[in-house]
Amino acid sequence: MPATKPPRIFLSPPHMSGRELPLIEEVFESNYVAPAGPMLERFEAAFAEYLDIPHTLAVSSGTAALHLAMRILGVGEKDEVWASSLTFIASVSAIDFLRAEPVFFDVDEATWTMDPNLLEEEMRRAARQGRLPKAVVPTDLYGQCCDLDAIRTICDAHGVPVLVDAAESVGSEYRGRKSGAGERAAAYSFNGNKIITTSGGGLLASDDGELIAEARFLSTQAREPVVHYQHETIGYNYRMSNVLAAIGIGQLSVLDERVAKRRAIFDRYREELCDLPGIAFMPEADYGRSNRWLTAITIDPAGFGNDREHVRLALEAENIEARPVWKPMHLQPVFREARHVGGAVGERLFETGLCLPSGSQMTDEEIDRVVSIVRECAR
Ligand SMILES: Cc1ncc(COP(=O)(O)O)c(C=O)c1O
Repeated sequence: MPATKPPRIFLSPPHMSGRELPLIEEVFESNYVAPAGPMLERFEAAFAEYLDIPHTLAVSSGTAALHLAMRILGVGEKDEVWASSLTFIASVSAIDFLRAEPVFFDVDEATWTMDPNLLEEEMRRAARQGRLPKAVVPTDLYGQCCDLDAIRTICDAHGVPVLVDAAESVGSEYRGRKSGAGERAAAYSFNGNKIITTSGGGLLASDDGELIAEARFLSTQAREPVVHYQHETIGYNYRMSNVLAAIGIGQLSVLDERVAKRRAIFDRYREELCDLPGIAFMPEADYGRSNRWLTAITIDPAGFGNDREHVRLALEAENIEARPVWKPMHLQPVFREARHVGGAVGERLFETGLCLPSGSQMTDEEIDRVVSIVRECAR
């Protein structure tokens, strides 16, 4: 008889709280099964309160939130937008939607996020040459906030807006405030793999009510405020569904618990694996508190005895999903023409980095299953 595989451990599956279904039932009873309705307004208000950012717009994805924001910031053909190289493509795909040009920045070894020193140098050079970027879009990686004070100071000096890609940092903190607060705008994701999810969804937040009003207008087909349908510009169909907003309200109510659990998972991995030679854990910057969306480690084959891919395949053979750290954008074939600023920190993290299963419903036994396989891979 063929051996049955142990149950799959996914990287970061959805984790419902039990509060979502009654809220969805409420939506059905109200018949607002539409991209408008009271749940959507409730979700936006609750999220604004959670973030302590006054204006929010719930949309169909984090990608949509980034697209709307970049368009409103005036990004257009041939403009430069500066972004972290070590990220998921959705951080930067809207740069291409708008026919602008991405410039990718290497990350700081200590945070794995955009290196402010590189940014400062490049900003000075760009100012001298009179070709400032239209926006800077740093990514909060795996829950770690980028160093926003440093980045904002550099950008403010030249009047360049900062749009934070906070897709992965929902629930994280930077100097006592929630991720993304205090910048021109921030985009969040509630995709199925995120710390809280609406199956698919996103949110744009800003202190600037006009920016969010404009995003709201563009997200609903840019309909002019008249009874007949009238359009003076082309918009998008980007609004979040009222049904999914109900899921979001349920999920938001357990977000802090989810952060605590993901941090506990990280701590358990670290306790169980930190004695292994060649293994290092993603550092946590002292300016913030990461949601530890994914536990990311690096594996130095010289010390460990095997490389990251060997470990990933060993986990996969036991039906456990792990993933390499993001492949930097400047190494992606689609961006082969794009400029890259800085060194090879991101490249090294991609070569050696592995994200371990981090779902908030993981049991200690499941974590131990992962740990024992990683340990077996050590020389
Ligand atoms: C860094 C980053 N930016 C943007 C996104 C895009 O979010 P969404 O999938 O909701 O479009 C994601 C996740 O998918 C992400 O990880």
